[in-house]
Parts: sequence; structure tokens; C-alpha cells
Amino acid sequence: MIGNRELFGVVLMRELLWRCAWKKVDWRKLLFLGVVMTIVGVLVPTYAFPHTVNMWFLSPPLAVSSYVSLNGSMQLREALTEARVQQFPPVSAASVLSPNTTVPSKNKRAKVSRTRNSLLKRRKKKSKENDESKVVLPPPRSPIPPRMQRFIWSLSPNDALIYAKREIEHAPVVIDDPYLSAHIFRNISVFKRSYELMETILKVYIYPDGDKPIFHQPHLYGIYASEGWFMKFMEASREFVSRDPEKAHLFYLPYSARQLEVAVYVPNSHNLRPLSIFMRDYANMIAAKYPYWNRTHGRDHFLVACHDWGPYALTMHEELTKNTMKALCNADVSEGIFTAGQDVSLPETTIRSPKRPLRNVGGGIRVSQRPILAFFAGNLHGRVRPTLLKYWHNKDDDMKIYGPLPIGISRKMTYVQHMKSSKYCICPMGYEVNSPRIVEAIYYECVPVIIADNFVLPFNEVLDWSAFSVVVAEKDIPKLKEILLAIPLRRYLTMLANLKTVQKHFLWNPRPLRYDLFHMILHSIWFSRLNHVQIPQS
Ligand SMILES: *[C@@H]1O[C@H](CO)[C@@H](O)[C@H](O)[C@H]1NC(C)=O
Ligand SMILES: *[C@@H]1O[C@H](CO)[C@@H](O)[C@H](O)[C@H]1NC(C)=O
Ligand SMILES: *[C@@H]1O[C@H](CO)[C@@H](O)[C@H](O)[C@H]1NC(C)=O
Ligand SMILES: *[C@@H]1O[C@H](CO)[C@@H](O)[C@H](O)[C@H]1NC(C)=O
Repeated sequence: MIGNRELFGVVLMRELLWRCAWKKVDWRKLLFLGVVMTIVGVLVPTYAFPHTVNMWFLSPPLAVSSYVSLNGSMQLREALTEARVQQFPPVSAASVLSPNTTVPSKNKRAKVSRTRNSLLKRRKKKSKENDESKVVLPPPRSPIPPRMQRFIWSLSPNDALIYAKREIEHAPVVIDDPYLSAHIFRNISVFKRSYELMETILKVYIYPDGDKPIFHQPHLYGIYASEGWFMKFMEASREFVSRDPEKAHLFYLPYSARQLEVAVYVPNSHNLRPLSIFMRDYANMIAAKYPYWNRTHGRDHFLVACHDWGPYALTMHEELTKNTMKALCNADVSEGIFTAGQDVSLPETTIRSPKRPLRNVGGGIRVSQRPILAFFAGNLHGRVRPTLLKYWHNKDDDMKIYGPLPIGISRKMTYVQHMKSSKYCICPMGYEVNSPRIVEAIYYECVPVIIADNFVLPFNEVLDWSAFSVVVAEKDIPKLKEILLAIPLRRYLTMLANLKTVQKHFLWNPRPLRYDLFHMILHSIWFSRLNHVQIPQS
């Protein structure tokens, strides 16, 4: 089982990097181990049997020659995606699709650069500590009494879920909590109990199948970073991962929709079929190789995809489309793929510096000194933004509504400074309903004004978005200023205060903290899993 051997190497490497990043390790020892790991990294793939078992399902590009040309709307989406992804180095499709390539030189490069990165990390530690001081640490988990722990372990996965669901229905009433603000949650009692039970009970099985870079290789940079950061923390989690699938409550399909695009999409083909075929074959392989998929027809399986095409790449597999729990940035209920209550709206976050994901967070200026009522700058994708500009570009001094931010203006005041100096930040949908601006507005303490009909807001099942944001219907764009001015100052200040408390739930901490973005995503998937659980009548 070559796959396992490689996996072992990766696990060891990750463990090593983890330790040097977070515990003080002798740096000479680290460097030596790094060199050893690099050599192992080269040797293992070289000696490995050329046909890795877990690649058999990959069809070479020729197998998908029957290209069907898609709609105009799809072409627009492609233009968007290409514009958005220029920053990422392309991976050659051939090296990924050839079933007998293990891309050893690339692995080696990655490992060397990771070692170097961890050395750089040390230098950057100071600035990082500044970032981390922005975060209010959550209270530690209260220990689980041993009897309770034994009780939980004695339950089958399904019985444990039934137990959790009953407990949440009878959640003890929480009036106020020192760390969690009751104002931003729909029902703080339910959230708190559900979260604690997740910590006590939840075990996730991660399928080892699937090769890099599409699987198991987190991409931590840019606007699709959410899928990567989740993957990174999920695979590294000791708390939530079970190596024994029989003990698992959830099964994770650890792929990256962004990497799938890079590897499988033929540029300018306007054709997502190869991506769907790839995902169909992967799901079929998982269903044939393991008994777990067929047991629930994929209902206890989940995936996390931030790329706009996340939902469209699933459509050739009925169970994958309908049953699997999908955490998607593109959470559009009108497309018939994302289902509210079953699927999870994944926040889209822009990460400009993977080593300092918290850079620039916070620092909105005092409200009385914010000169701008409403701010937007960006490209004019999709149906909403041209309308927004039509009504508000250069129409009103309080409304700073631009296309791409003009250079003359950005030189005086950057995009981020604009956000920190505005009372409201307009977050209109692009080609798709989601926009990284929503989380940016949360980071920079500017109340988001969301304009995207059919969009399910992130963590909508637990968060009360009306407490810290404004949702405006697309048809009300002409009345935008009127709507914002109608919000009394007191209500605005409450929203702003709530926005600052919700911030911690949207942060990618360099190492996960309770209630942060990683845990919120996992919680939403757990919550959604509990929705399917039938409590037996008795
Ligand atoms: C094109 O779009 C229409 C409706 O928007 C849809 O019914 C049709 O299936 C689409 N065609 C393709 C090839 O996706
Ligand atoms: C992959 O293996 C097949 C035989 O299984 C061989 O014909 C082909 O040349 C190999 N391709 C590469 C890129 O090594
Ligand atoms: C929250 O949920 C609990 C448990 O279902 C319920 O008893 C309580 O009344 C709810 N609180 C609010 C404010 O709705
Ligand atoms: C699951 O079902 C599929 C389709 O019915 C079948 O091809 C596959 O062999 C089944 N898997 C197992 C492990 O029995």
C-alpha cells in the first residue's frame, strides 16, 4: 500500500513542522530532520510501484473527448474565475492526469520550501505575535468526566448522534456567556450545547484515497483559501479525526475544487464536464472500495469547496449532488444544488499572506470620524454590480461607489483603508452569489451590506446576521442610501459592536482556536449531520 507509505511520510513531515512551529525545537535538529525527510521524500516515490492503486479512477484527458458546449452564463463564470486566479501558478494538466505519475520532484520542492518557510517563520515571529495578540483567547475546554467519556465511547456512532440531538433539544438556557455573545446567535443555548457536544463526540474519517495536488494538498492563498485552510486543519486534527471509519460520524472527501480546476479544466473549453466526470469517478471509487458510502448513499459524507465551480463539478453523480453535505462558498439556493438545511454556506476569505492570516484584521476607525457612508470598489461582474454603479457611481458624495478603485484614489487611501473609514461596505454578488467582501468587511469593522438574492449567508443556521449586517434586495438598489440613512445611529452602533464580536468566528488562526472559523465550519457540518438524524419514537 504505497498510498499509505506516502501518507505516513506526509503525516510525519506535518507533525515535524507542527512541532517546530509551535513548540520550541532545536533548530539544528530540525534542519537535519528536514534533510532526512527530503531524501525520504525523493526515495519513496522512486521505489514505489508505478501504478498507485488510488489513481486508477483518473481518466486520461482523451476519455472525455465528447465536449458539450455550455451556456453563455457558464462562459461568464469562466471569465471571472480566470481573472480571479491569475495569481496562482498553473500545474500542468498532463502531470496530474497521467495515472502513473507521482510528481516526485514537485514533492521534494514543496518539502524544501516548507522547511525554508518554517525558518522564515522564526524571523517573522514578532509580527505574528502582534497578530495573535489581536485574538482574545477562548476559555479552555472543560474536562469531560470519565464516566461521561466512557458512556460516549460505549455508544455506536448513530446512537451518539441521537443522544446529541436529544441533548440539544433540551439545551440548558444560557443567558450570557463571557466569550460568546448572545446577540449574534439565533439561539445561544442551542449553539453552545451543540458545540460542546461536537467537541465531546464528533469523529471524522478522512479518506486517504486521491493523489495530490487535487487531494490532500491545501492551498492557503487567495480568494479560495477557505477550502485549503479547512483541509489543512482537518487533516492535522487529533481531536476530531478517527482513523477507524467504524467510529466515524462523518466522512470527509478531502479534495480541492480549485486544484481540480487547475488540473482538469481545459482552458477556454467552457466545459465543466471533465470536472464532473472526475468527481463522479472519485465518488464511485469510494463507494466501490468502502462500505460506508452505500450505507447512507453518501448522506454522512461531506466536502468543502470554495471555488465558484464547486457545485457544478458534482452534477454527474446524483448522490454526490443530492445527498452529500456540501460546504460551499457558492451557496446559491436558486441553482438547485445547494440545499439550505443540508448544505453549509462556507465563508469566502481572501488570504494574502498564508503565514500571517490575521494581518490587517481590526482597526476600523471611530465612527464619528468615518467620512464615508457606503463604499464599494471592484470589477463589474454579474448582474448586480452594473446596476449598483448605474445608480450610485459619482452620484453622491456620501456614497463612494467605484468600479476598480482608481489609482489616483488608491494612492491616497488604499482599499483596506477605505473599508476601515466607511460606515457601511457594500457587498454585491459577482458572477456568483458569494463575495470575499463580506468577511473582509467583518475583518475591517465595516458593517456589510449584502446584495445577493438567493444567497444563504455563512453559518446562517446559528448566526443572526441581522444583528451585524444589512441585507438589501437587488430590486432596492435605487433606494440604497435611503435604506442606510433610515438605520438609527444607536442601531448602527449596536451592529458595529456585534460585528466586532463576530470577528473571532471568522478568523483563520495560525493554529485553530475554539470557536474560530475552522471550528465554526466543522460545527455547521456537524449541525447539519444532526438534522438528518431520526430520533426513534419511544
Ligand atoms: C442552459 O441554461 C438553461 C437555463 O438557463 C438550462 O435549462 C440548460 O440546461 C442549460 N444548458 C446547458 C447545456 O447547461
Ligand atoms: C504509464 O503506464 C502505461 C502502461 O501502464 C505506459 O504505457 C505509459 O507510457 C506510462 N506513462 C508514463 C507517462 O509513464
Ligand atoms: C433556544 O432553544 C432552547 C432549546 O430548544 C429553547 O428552550 C429556548 O426557548 C430557545 N431560546 C430562544 C430565545 O428561542
Ligand atoms: C455500492 O453500490 C454501487 C452501485 O450500486 C456498487 O457498484 C458498489 O459495488 C457498492 N459498493 C460496495 C462496497 O458494495
